[in-house]
Amino acid sequence: MIVVNQECTKCGICVEICPIGLEMGQDGPKLNYAASCIKCGHCVAVCPQGSLDHEMVPINKQVSLGNNQVLDSETAGRFLRSRRSIRKYKNEAVPKEEMLKLLDIARFAPSGGNSQGLSYIVVTDKELLTKLSEATLKWMEEQINKGGALSKTYKGIVQKTGQDLILRDAPALVIATAPKNFPIGRDNARYSLAYVELYAPTLGLGSCWAGFFEMCAASGYPEIYQLLDIAEDTTVTGAVMVGYPQYKYYRLVDRNPLQVSWR
Ligand SMILES: Cc1cc2nc3c(=O)[nH]c(=O)nc-3n(C[C@H](O)[C@H](O)[C@H](O)COP(=O)(O)O)c2cc1C
Repeated sequence: MIVVNQECTKCGICVEICPIGLEMGQDGPKLNYAASCIKCGHCVAVCPQGSLDHEMVPINKQVSLGNNQVLDSETAGRFLRSRRSIRKYKNEAVPKEEMLKLLDIARFAPSGGNSQGLSYIVVTDKELLTKLSEATLKWMEEQINKGGALSKTYKGIVQKTGQDLILRDAPALVIATAPKNFPIGRDNARYSLAYVELYAPTLGLGSCWAGFFEMCAASGYPEIYQLLDIAEDTTVTGAVMVGYPQYKYYRLVDRNPLQVSWR
């Protein structure tokens, strides 16, 4: 399963960075407990000589980085800070190819034990988007009647009519789903959708977490699952709106000061 060529210097880097337990043998690295390999691909990616190949994460599927740093820190900082939650979209559909380009980046986000395990539903049907917003509002009203912790926030939202404060009239909603028995599906979706959000501006797109919709769906509200025809054993683990931003931002916003303590 692991193939090592003759250029292997047995430097041991692959062994040091392996999350599970690659070992150095006489002829180079070897995987004694193949079943515990999480297929992260690190052993192949880190080898300076490109001496190692792994059946489950083949070298020919990896992209060479050369010696280049991906981004300098200032550019990276500005890029990360320039992501904005977009709440006003152009009335313009996102072509399927663009949406696929955007979602493909989600595959590369970190996930617990490299488990990945998410699927996505993209909703672009306007009528269905409206129904999802309406169902979320109905759920919010039920939460208000129950006197839940977020009642005050929900009240402000349900009272504001004539404006879609749930899905912001976005032309698309990306919904991450996972099997109900996959305990870290929601954690993984946080990362994968964060990648989507960060990548969106590079395609001229904008996005915003659909937090209200997500809370409603994550509570198991049946209407959402019926509307989306989601199978009984599957749950919604996250959601973001996507579309072309109506407005451009001219400044990077500030945040609370960093709080750190050292021990
Ligand atoms: C988990 C989560 C849920 C969110 N839900 C919503 C939402 O339902 N509607 C909305 O307009 N913004 C939502 N947001 C966006 C936040 O309000 C936004 O990130 C925050 O105000 C900072 O603005 P920025 O994203 O432009 O930096 C959500 C963000 C997160 C992380």
